[in-house]
Amino acid sequence: MNLYHPHLMRVTERIDETVDTVTLRLAFQDPAVAEAFEFRAGQFAEYSVFGEGECTFCIASAPTRLPLIECSFKKVGKVTTALSRLEVGDTMGFRGPYGNHFPVDAWKGRSLVFIAGGIGLAPVRCVIDNCLDRRDEFGDVTIVYGARSVSDLVYKGELEAWAARADVRLVKTVDPGGETQDWDGQVGFVPTVLGDAAPTSDNAVAIVCGPPIMIKFTLPVLDKLGFSQDQVYTTLENRMKCGLGKCGRCNIGRVYVCKDGPVFTAAQVAELPADM
Ligand SMILES: Cc1cc2nc3c(=O)[nH]c(=O)nc-3n(C[C@H](O)[C@H](O)[C@H](O)COP(=O)(O)OP(=O)(O)OC[C@H]3O[C@@H](n4cnc5c(N)ncnc54)[C@H](O)[C@@H]3O)c2cc1C
Ligand code: FES
Repeated sequence: MNLYHPHLMRVTERIDETVDTVTLRLAFQDPAVAEAFEFRAGQFAEYSVFGEGECTFCIASAPTRLPLIECSFKKVGKVTTALSRLEVGDTMGFRGPYGNHFPVDAWKGRSLVFIAGGIGLAPVRCVIDNCLDRRDEFGDVTIVYGARSVSDLVYKGELEAWAARADVRLVKTVDPGGETQDWDGQVGFVPTVLGDAAPTSDNAVAIVCGPPIMIKFTLPVLDKLGFSQDQVYTTLENRMKCGLGKCGRCNIGRVYVCKDGPVFTAAQVAELPADM
């Protein structure tokens, strides 16, 4: 079997999250592949449009919700633009799952603090829903999510569902300076809002995904709240090609982000060479 041979998938639903961000719900065309498919929260796949190419996204739906498989992506270039033109019933390619995963089993009994910005909620949403489907196994659950403006928020349905739960603390925010009419969340940058929410670091882990600038300013806040670098997890999004540890496109020093990652602790990221 050719490692690069994609499975065919049919688009079963399309959700326009924002003006440039789309979620596609997908189903394997081959029932045997659908039956055998498994993945863990945090893994990614290569999604393809025939004649256009492949690109890398996390699997945004939770492994506890299979056969549901969703990807969410921002339209930034060639392949994401081609994907954004797909409609329900269209066929596309999928190969994966690849990479490591969030150590959800090791977090049993611990409190969880999820921090995401913009489309960074896609990998975090996978692990949030995975943990909420196993809610009894964890302590407090806090979700801090921010976007540039109200119209840039993704997963509005999920945000409503999480807000409605008594066992989840959702803090949502938009950057200062934008339109806030009818907005029932906070106004402020994610690191500031996180500091104000002050979730405890006692027996907790934090999962952070978002633009590099958000991560840069969030890590010192987590440090101030008492989170050690081993308690903080993130995903790296280095450009990839094969996804399999073969092409050398994604590596940082001796670390292959596609094989050794994409999930790393902040302590592991701090050890990587500075050229990342
Ligand atoms: C493990 C992993 C998970 C990812 N998950 C998601 C996800 O869930 N949703 C999502 O929207 N995106 C995700 N990305 C980023 C996504 O892979 C790229 O945005 C996509 O491949 C762009 O493809 P394109 O052909 O449309 O863009 P291109 O035409 O190839 O490029 C357009 C522009 O985007 C830049 N670019 C392309 N890829 C990257 C990258 N990886 N990092 C920084 N800049 C890049 C290019 O340099 C160029 O400036 C993920 C990346 C990785 C490695
Ligand atoms: S993407 Fe090819 S080695 Fe990582």
